Amino acid sequence: MRVVTIVGARPQFIKAAPVSIALALSHHNEIVVHTGQHYDPSMSDVFFDELCIPTPKYNLGVGSGGHAFQTGNILIGLEEVLIKEKPDIVLLYGDTNSTVAGALAAVKLHIPVVHIEGGVRSYDMCVPEEVNRVLTDRVSHIIFVPTKSAAGNLKNEGYELILNNGDIVDIENLIYSKDDIKQGFGIVCNIGDVMYDAALMFSEIAKEKSGILEELNLKSKQYVLATIHRPQNTDDAKVLLEIINGLDKISEKTTVVFPMHPRVQKAINQYFGTDFLNTIKRNIIIINPVSYFDMLILEKNAGVIITDSGGVQHEAAFYKIPCVTVLDKTPWIESVENGWNRLCGTSCEEIYNSYVIAKNSNPIWKGLSCYGYGDAAKRFVKVVERIMNIAVKKEN
Ligand code: UD1
Ligand code: UDP
Repeated sequence: MRVVTIVGARPQFIKAAPVSIALALSHHNEIVVHTGQHYDPSMSDVFFDELCIPTPKYNLGVGSGGHAFQTGNILIGLEEVLIKEKPDIVLLYGDTNSTVAGALAAVKLHIPVVHIEGGVRSYDMCVPEEVNRVLTDRVSHIIFVPTKSAAGNLKNEGYELILNNGDIVDIENLIYSKDDIKQGFGIVCNIGDVMYDAALMFSEIAKEKSGILEELNLKSKQYVLATIHRPQNTDDAKVLLEIINGLDKISEKTTVVFPMHPRVQKAINQYFGTDFLNTIKRNIIIINPVSYFDMLILEKNAGVIITDSGGVQHEAAFYKIPCVTVLDKTPWIESVENGWNRLCGTSCEEIYNSYVIAKNSNPIWKGLSCYGYGDAAKRFVKVVERIMNIAVKKEN
């Protein structure tokens, strides 16, 4: 099977890693297209180097810009690549501008669109990712959902071809084929969460390779890990300042480690000036974005995680680290429902109070079965082979 994989942003590189391995083990031919949405070495190259993702055959070099600029230029670049490469499927991840552009480019060329991490919803169309999610799912032929709740979201939207009722797919009993795919309502299939695969796959090697705790002189459970990057938290100076003040207040009690997304670095420079971070009084270690291995180690050893990242909320749950999410809504409801994640909005007081509650919380551990069995990537390959009825061609 000839697969064109489209990635462009940090979390997509991580999600693609276990899937690329599974495709290679089954002798499929994967052609990776990097849209260039993320391009700093610490936001891109580091993941290709560390996670052995195939080197992109194409880099569209789209770079940063507004939504229309980014989506439009990726769309134009991809059309040319897809016409040339003639893949059996186009594989997309998550909810970025790279994802929605990939979906549009492929569907208009009548190439089957396969979406990993579909069905996720925050029910807030002011969030750009929500627009990308809804549109991508709508034109996808197979939608791989990470959880049963994501399958439920699609059921509510009128999708009918839901394998195994939204529970993890039973590969031996696939009841749909590509002939069942109807315009605009793809087959929905729960394989579990590929981020869980990645976390399991790379945990041991991260322990071996990462020296981040020593480098930053950190002791396990004696620091808070913070990441922020959502537009609603960074594009408004007042909101951003509240969040930074919240972290500053927490740092009166404990060290805060803050790997800073470039979006935040730029916003701080723009709103408050380049000297602003030097004026933060307390114990906040601000560093550049870190590699996945370093991030896993920082997460696993944190006392509490404070974030607005989708992926980091999951990972907090995987590692049983209490998490505070600096948002009013999250599409990742499992971790909130099972007590490990609390939503706190963006006020300094609420962030601090939620941190105190999270630090002292002792939620009942309900396991991780809601994220599957850590074999989502293998299931993905088997399901696509069966549904698309594409014979495995051994590449020389
Ligand atoms: C994007 C995704 C978001 C995802 C996030 C993961 C969209 C709409 N958003 O948000 O869903 O959660 O990636 O991190 O697709 N920048 C750099 N260097 C880089 C990349 C970005 O300096 O390598 C700066 C630029 O100033 C850019 C800003 O960060 O304008 C935002 O980057 P962009 O890719 O537009 O959005 P993210 O906030 O990263
Ligand atoms: N991550 C990383 N280094 C960092 C911050 C995050 O490797 O400095 C990883 C994190 O472990 C998770 C993914 O990036 O796997 C989440 O990406 P991000 O927060 O950028 O986007 P989101 O998940 O919100 O879309």
